[in-house]
Amino acid sequence: MSHIQKNKMKQILFDVPLWKCPIDPTKIGLESKNFKNCFDSKTLSSFAGINNCTEEGHKYLIETIMNELKKDLKVWKLVNLRAWRNIYKDSFQDRHNHAGSHFTFIIYEKILKPQTVFYHPANDLINASEGGDYYKLSHELEADKDTIFIFPGYLDHMVRLTKEGMSISGNFDVIPHPNRKLGLDTGAGF
Ligand SMILES: [Fe+2]
Repeated sequence: MSHIQKNKMKQILFDVPLWKCPIDPTKIGLESKNFKNCFDSKTLSSFAGINNCTEEGHKYLIETIMNELKKDLKVWKLVNLRAWRNIYKDSFQDRHNHAGSHFTFIIYEKILKPQTVFYHPANDLINASEGGDYYKLSHELEADKDTIFIFPGYLDHMVRLTKEGMSISGNFDVIPHPNRKLGLDTGAGF
């Protein structure tokens, strides 16, 4: 077997999806109040405050997300949606994940330059095995305004120190079509 043929047999066993599509944040109609310094990074956030969407905005956000996810996954309904705002002024956000939810999203309303960095799910194990030269440990999100980025809730990420920025962040779960439970739709796993 030639060297080239061997390379063709390589497989990627697991992947980490990142969905990206345009969105108009003004159409979400999110009003955030009671900002506090949250998380270990003391990021100014409405995470623990009040966040209300207009009814149309809520529907628009759900439709935008579901249209994107349905291209790849057999998802039926989006549930447990929660959204909040983070304001960055010479601040950052420490490494964290949203593992309590199936998915997370980020929409940058103000951004000077890319600031979100994702970590390989096995980042710590790769570091511990000194495998950093052979596996990509992190990925800088090429973020731009008016775009929604959707990724697995389990994925660790951080926000670099930035002079000025503002984002809408959120979490949600999805449920498969009820027919799937009856064995009528095998559905795609995730
Ligand atoms: Fe986050």
